[in-house]
Amino acid sequence: MVLTVMVPACHTQLKNGIGSSCMKVGILTGGGDCPGLNPVIRGVVRTITNAGGEMVGLLQGWRGAIQGITTPLTVENTDDIIWKGGTILGSSRTNPYKKPEDVQQLLETFKKLGLDALVAIGGDDTLGVANKLYRDYKLNTIGCPKTIDNDLSCTDVTFGFDTAINIVMEATDRLRTTAESHRRIVVIETMGRHAGWIALHSGIATAADYVLIPEVPVDVDHMCSVLKRRREEGKEYAIVVVSEGAVLSHEDGFVTQDAKIDDFGHVSLGGVGESVSKIIEHRLGVETRCVILGHVQRGGSPTAYDRVLGTRLGVGAGRLVLEKKFGRMVALQGTHIVDVALEDAVGKLKTVEMEYYKEAAEFFT
Ligand code: F6P
Repeated sequence: MVLTVMVPACHTQLKNGIGSSCMKVGILTGGGDCPGLNPVIRGVVRTITNAGGEMVGLLQGWRGAIQGITTPLTVENTDDIIWKGGTILGSSRTNPYKKPEDVQQLLETFKKLGLDALVAIGGDDTLGVANKLYRDYKLNTIGCPKTIDNDLSCTDVTFGFDTAINIVMEATDRLRTTAESHRRIVVIETMGRHAGWIALHSGIATAADYVLIPEVPVDVDHMCSVLKRRREEGKEYAIVVVSEGAVLSHEDGFVTQDAKIDDFGHVSLGGVGESVSKIIEHRLGVETRCVILGHVQRGGSPTAYDRVLGTRLGVGAGRLVLEKKFGRMVALQGTHIVDVALEDAVGKLKTVEMEYYKEAAEFFT
């Protein structure tokens, strides 16, 4: 007589050597999108599926987790997304903690979907929610850091940043040729909210004549004297890179597009470049133009660096789920993918240290 033993599918194959799993794992992307999100999703899906688990995508950030808007994720439907910008899951700035009933609804949805764990890919706001859900309700959350701003603590770099600075570099190289032809000054405004990483790195990469970042009080007199001197020395055009969060005067504070406030209390920045441009034109009497790069910095295909970093973090996040190390966040430290407590990573931004600024400032003293 032949005996047939029923073995669950999830116990038959071990591809990743960590152990098999019948886990059902949700994944979402929250906050501003950024190139590299899809490589992370692909990395998590592959790692969990290799171990026999099942993946569910929650659409539009925390909104999908509250309302139960889902999509199945498989190796097949995530295999060719590595090159795509944005996020196949969609995103939003929904904050479930804004209304207590939304948190309850989210917990219900988690139960209804039969999820064993949730991977939240996001910036400080999204990860802050993941941390609170773990802390307050012991929900099995894992965090993965993302933002073009590169301002998250406990990780050396965030994916999306490399793509963003390369976009700024390419745009600036193009602006340089027209600025030079017309002997103009061009002020380029970059994103970055309250951290000047994008402006500083793209300023270095494009040999900018001056860089303004939120971390350093703006010295208009110094900026104008440097620009004037360079012109007198024979360089008849100039590039100034200004971060959207740079503050021109403490009385006026940040320059905002429309003073809109999101669910997490953030104001929408933008426009400081126009003010800088007017000041320069007025003080120097040189034709000055402003270009606000805006969302172009977040669009399009990720660079190879961001594809690789996103993939490594995705695999790392998947492994944390399988090891049941909840309340943790994957991070890049040195060249290694490590994990840190979500609690330690959220709530404090990694702004530009003076050591980095001083290196860049060698070129505009
Ligand atoms: O945090 C990422 C970021 O791109 C910031 O650099 C910028 O200030 C903000 O998001 C813009 O947000 P939104 O896409 O909601 O306008």
